[in-house]
Amino acid sequence: MARVHNFNAGPAVLPVEVLQQVQADLVEMPGGGMSIMEMSHRSQTYEAVHEQTIALIRELLGLSDAYKVLFLQGGASLQFSMVPLNLLREGQTADYLLTGGWGQKAIKEAKKVGKVHLAASTESENFARVAAQEEIQLTPDAAYVHFTSNETIQGVQWMAEPETNGVPLVVDASSDILSRPLDAGKYGLIYAGAQKNLGPSGVTVVIVREDLLGDTPANLPTMLDYKTHVKTNSLYNTPNTFGIYIIGLVCRWIQQRGGLEGIGRLNEQKARALYDVIDESTYYRGHAQPSSRSRMNVTFRLPSEELEKQFLREATANEMIGLAGHRDVGGLRASLYNALPLESARALADFMREFARRNG
Ligand SMILES: Cc1ncc(COP(=O)(O)O)c(C=O)c1O
Repeated sequence: MARVHNFNAGPAVLPVEVLQQVQADLVEMPGGGMSIMEMSHRSQTYEAVHEQTIALIRELLGLSDAYKVLFLQGGASLQFSMVPLNLLREGQTADYLLTGGWGQKAIKEAKKVGKVHLAASTESENFARVAAQEEIQLTPDAAYVHFTSNETIQGVQWMAEPETNGVPLVVDASSDILSRPLDAGKYGLIYAGAQKNLGPSGVTVVIVREDLLGDTPANLPTMLDYKTHVKTNSLYNTPNTFGIYIIGLVCRWIQQRGGLEGIGRLNEQKARALYDVIDESTYYRGHAQPSSRSRMNVTFRLPSEELEKQFLREATANEMIGLAGHRDVGGLRASLYNALPLESARALADFMREFARRNG
């Protein structure tokens, strides 16, 4: 079977060049005498891979020395708890900007830890857009402001960072990290599960400004303390060595495509191919308002659920996989992460036009 057009929301498509490199190195990692999965996480060969991956992330994002790059486990979901456990102190408030389903989950966990203020929400509009700056009601001395740069389920994305008047900005960037240029210096903490734009599942990248990590609360478990992982360079316990190695290969692949500028232009083209189809007819209804449209997850509906099912069946028969919307919202969703080729987005756009012509 040939490789299909993979529109999965995550785990998601990886660059074929990266998979081929993994295949070439799998049985014997050059210089290692064994596969990367079989060697000690404290071996010289692995250490070089670990350092290289960190260096590539730092380079792509232009991180200053103020930031540390960590590789953790427990998914972005564990970060919903680790962020407040580490950054929200007794008597402080954390501000959250709510623009979709993942933000809801982040808020639920933060409330178990401390005081949360909902500084903006677009829930009453079915999360069809992100919040406008003038709607955001910040707490003047908040511990941090948290937002989700791309809501994977609803397909809405922030086009610029919210302004926080000096309060540290924390972002769940799980579904758009390294997909476009980012002004990393604006952030206190960036976290992302790897399985959409960076690599396989099982690693979470956390980028944190070290000065935000004050005294560790006495009862904070060692593994939940960012400082544990900063002090040990993410080697306190056994990390996902295989995943970190693949993230390094993906970062190099991004670098070869012109870094974040280059990959951003490509992602823009892919998204435009699909939004053009949505805009040129009344057959498809996009979920997101145009100003908040995600370049990573294009969410849309057809005239009926029956037609949506037929669309999915025919798309699958045409080797276009992973187009069902999230189970919470239904409809269709095309995920266009970094590694999805432009040809796949164009193939789907052609299929959408043809399907509408036949069934309109
Ligand atoms: C924006 C966002 N945040 C968090 C998560 C949860 O990530 P994980 O499964 O790594 O815990 C996802 C997963 O789809 C996501 O898209």
